[in-house]
Amino acid sequence: MSPKKDVKKKEIFVDLPGRELKFTVVEDIEALITDVSDPDQVPCWADIWPAAYGMANYLWEEVLFFPGKSVLELGAGMGLPGIVCGLKGARAVLSDFNPTALQMSGENASRNGVQAELLLEDWRTFSCREKFDYLLAADILYDPLLNPFLGQIFHNNLKPGGTIIVSHPLRAATEEFLKNWYDANLFTHRRVLREVEVEGMLLPRYRIALDLYRSQS
Ligand SMILES: C[S@@+](CC[C@H](N)C(=O)[O-])C[C@H]1O[C@@H](n2cnc3c(N)ncnc32)[C@H](O)[C@@H]1O
Repeated sequence: MSPKKDVKKKEIFVDLPGRELKFTVVEDIEALITDVSDPDQVPCWADIWPAAYGMANYLWEEVLFFPGKSVLELGAGMGLPGIVCGLKGARAVLSDFNPTALQMSGENASRNGVQAELLLEDWRTFSCREKFDYLLAADILYDPLLNPFLGQIFHNNLKPGGTIIVSHPLRAATEEFLKNWYDANLFTHRRVLREVEVEGMLLPRYRIALDLYRSQS
């Protein structure tokens, strides 16, 4: 699959405390919908989801990254959380299985002064063997058929002592997966809840959970 050339785009501003980022997202998402019966074709990569805003704010305000730390964002879509890590000095790798999403996330990184690496990978056939200090998962644990592949990546691609940050709007499928996947012998876990306001979304306000899993070193 190569990136779509005819995607209509729009610019949006993302406000972080003390910093404004400029992002390009898809303007007409409806026009990208071709086959609703195939979940792989649903263009959920084309906008920034409330969970990504919640994670980006949390990373910006609370997590201290420093040069040398590596971050892999899975299902990055437009790449907001990974780009925020790049702004805080981390080496940011943005990954997605959709080439147009990946191209747009790379452009979003550059326009905000971040040199992100791009990784085109499907969770079901994930071949990257590198281990990262941080794995980011913003609203990607929604499909019970895909969640086990992500659980495997969490084990395979995290360094000892590394942290997985999952953000989600408390979806039942996510809660169920995390409850069964979590192993208290391997990780410490802490949950932070944030209220997120997003302009132009269905609801004005979302409750976002951030689940942080730190692996034993
Ligand atoms: C709900 S969107 C979330 C996008 C972004 N993380 C955010 O929160 O704004 C899910 C993302 O996962 C990606 N995705 C879905 N299935 C995938 C798969 N099998 N392998 C890799 N990425 C996938 C989509 O292309 C999309 O970018």
